[in-house]
Amino acid sequence: MNVLLLGSGGREHALAIALAKSPLLETLFVAPGNPGMASLGQVVVLDLADHSAIASFCKVMSIDLVVVGPEAPLVAGIIDHLTAAGIKAFGPSKAAARLEGSKAFAKDFCRRHAIPTAAYACFTDAVSAKAYAREKGAPIVIKADGLAAGKGVTVAMSLDEAEAAIDTIFSGGLGQAGDSIVIEDFLEGEEVSFFALCDGTRALEFASAQDHKRVGEGESGPNTGGMGAYSPAPVMDAKMRERVMREIVAPTLKGMTATGAPFKGVLFVGLMICADGPKLIEYNVRFGDPETQAILPRLEEDLLALLLACVEERLSERQPRLSPLTALSVVLAAKGYPGAPLRGSEIRGIARAEAMPFVAITHAGTKREGQKLIADGGRVLNVTGIGTDVAEARARAYAAIGTIDWPGGFFRCDIGWQALKHDR
Ligand code: AMP
Ligand code: GLY
Repeated sequence: MNVLLLGSGGREHALAIALAKSPLLETLFVAPGNPGMASLGQVVVLDLADHSAIASFCKVMSIDLVVVGPEAPLVAGIIDHLTAAGIKAFGPSKAAARLEGSKAFAKDFCRRHAIPTAAYACFTDAVSAKAYAREKGAPIVIKADGLAAGKGVTVAMSLDEAEAAIDTIFSGGLGQAGDSIVIEDFLEGEEVSFFALCDGTRALEFASAQDHKRVGEGESGPNTGGMGAYSPAPVMDAKMRERVMREIVAPTLKGMTATGAPFKGVLFVGLMICADGPKLIEYNVRFGDPETQAILPRLEEDLLALLLACVEERLSERQPRLSPLTALSVVLAAKGYPGAPLRGSEIRGIARAEAMPFVAITHAGTKREGQKLIADGGRVLNVTGIGTDVAEARARAYAAIGTIDWPGGFFRCDIGWQALKHDR
């Protein structure tokens, strides 16, 4: 099969590594790709917002499957466009992608289908939003309705902070994403990412992971796209996984079908494991970044065959096989991230790190200048260690990082702390 993979981050590099192993694969194309993916497939220049150009490329190159990494093209309807052109594509339709594209849609959907989530209200003006926040009291969570690349959510510990967040969103800085806001109760518990593969009617448990959203150690500082992850998440024992499938994933699939927008692709539920059970924090309609970098090294099956089964509406009843090993991925970010990252610094020593056993390196924001590898983004590299438990995976990841010479970057030294707490 000829496969076109869309995206350019660490998630897509990890997807490319897994797809490249498939016996079904003939040629892998990646657009826009990154220097790390260049050894796995042909890098193509395509604008992910130009769905017609992507469809034409697929026709010319006889692409049998398109795999979409990031959420923006899904929310913009790329799957509908490709499907209408007779091209198979992995991911949800525009209507189904609203689960991620609009927090108000997601919350109303949960309410209609009795899916456990924090109590909430939606607002389109600051005065009534602030009145509600005052009535509820802090801590309280303020969210821009639309896609905001991780910048639309404030977990406000005080009312002042809540009011400031409401003003920021309505001031227009987030564009359309900030036209309306959701205010919801603060949930206390352990946060996990849970993934299910879906073919419209059937959902199969895929994997669990835990991400570290804050930029600083000990979960301090602003939110980021994610600073590191490990899989599996120890808090997701068999009982909890079964509960999440029954209480959250199954009603989501059923509800989306009832809405006339059956969900196909990977459903990524962000959960809070609270004292009284799992609650949905958010839906995502694509693989997680950096969760995928920690999940796919554990996959013992053909990823391409699994994705194709979702698209062709023939998922088996058997859960995909993942190794019992733990993978732990640390994000190396450019100084300045999650604000404006410092671009252009040179990274040395990657080949040394890549040669280490039980280590995988994925590129997230790099470019080549001649022979040099240069930082060209916020999150720049992911270093993943694989081991029998979190402690071993983590030791391997940090040992590999130790061989990389990049003064322009930084990383968190405490990835996996929550899992190590469970081990004790
Ligand atoms: P979201 O974009 O909705 O995933 O929110 C970003 C982050 O904010 C989440 O990963 C959580 O860490 C935190 N968060 C969101 N909603 C809540 C909530 N209701 N209670 C506590 N923390 C939350
Ligand atoms: N790591 C969280 C996300 O991919 O949204």
